[in-house]
Amino acid sequence: MYQNQSILRVFIVFFLLLSPAKPEDQRIIQALVVFMNKLVPGPMQNIPGWGWNTSSDPCTSKWVGLTCDKDNIRVTKIVIDKLNLSGTLEFESVCKVSNLLVLSVNFNNITENIQQEISNCKRLTHLYLTGNKFLGHLPDSITDLPNVKRMFLSNNGFTGQLPDFSRTTGMLSFFAQNNRFTGQLPRFNYHQLDGFSVANSNFSGPMTRAILMQVALRVTLSYVGRSWHIHFSFSSKEYRVSGSVNTRLT
Ligand SMILES: *[C@@H]1O[C@H](CO)[C@@H](O)[C@H](O)[C@H]1NC(C)=O
Ligand SMILES: *[C@@H]1O[C@H](CO)[C@@H](O)[C@H](O)[C@H]1NC(C)=O
Ligand SMILES: *[C@@H]1O[C@H](CO)[C@@H](O)[C@H](O)[C@H]1NC(C)=O
Ligand SMILES: *[C@@H]1O[C@H](CO)[C@@H](O)[C@H](O)[C@H]1NC(C)=O
Repeated sequence: MYQNQSILRVFIVFFLLLSPAKPEDQRIIQALVVFMNKLVPGPMQNIPGWGWNTSSDPCTSKWVGLTCDKDNIRVTKIVIDKLNLSGTLEFESVCKVSNLLVLSVNFNNITENIQQEISNCKRLTHLYLTGNKFLGHLPDSITDLPNVKRMFLSNNGFTGQLPDFSRTTGMLSFFAQNNRFTGQLPRFNYHQLDGFSVANSNFSGPMTRAILMQVALRVTLSYVGRSWHIHFSFSSKEYRVSGSVNTRLT
């Protein structure tokens, strides 16, 4: 009896040593499947090798749109642009992918708000939501992504004020043109941005000198029609920002 147990133990140790690295966590696989179902993939599921089901592994079965780490174990990127996805983006699910660095859903038909659970995506560096039908206010928690570098929110139906992004210290570019944001131009670490646009929204209120000083080595401020345009350049690149009627320089 005692001997049998030791043999069993030896076998277990032997098995553990030989077994390959564990595949992606089942809990994460389930969260990914829920995330995709909420996006209503419809006929896209007929793409050969689509995956996105609980009976396969996202990395070894190479689900459409996913990239894994170099050991092919953990999902690191989700790029599902132009797939005619039309549901909602459930951040609560996708942020369970603990190694997620890139989330890109450009040019789909995704609607509804960005939920506050977005801040669970702690490792996210790139967020691309351009060209969808997102609505509503950005949650304050969107500024609580400590690793984010690039954020593209252009061409959606976002409304309300932009939150204070000055705590998002690693941000390098922020594009949110063609939305319906209102209120004042938000705080950012403008001096470190290499790309920025909030053009064609309904910003108003004073354009502070502080912002101008930060954004610019060279600034041209002009009023065209009933809106203001700021044209500035730094790092030998040129940028344009525009807003609506009520803005004045203070
Ligand atoms: C799950 O996805 C894999 C990879 O695309 C595929 O081979 C398999 O048939 C799918 N299983 C089900 C039940 O759809
Ligand atoms: C996109 O989705 C809509 C609604 O599900 C559908 O009517 C349309 O045919 C789809 N377009 C393509 C190109 O799959
Ligand atoms: C969004 O949906 C509309 C209507 O179903 C469709 O015409 C359009 O192609 C879709 N856009 C994308 C990017 O899939
Ligand atoms: C800005 O607000 C005006 C007046 O409320 C409205 O007519 C216009 O469509 C808005 N522009 C955008 C880009 O939402």
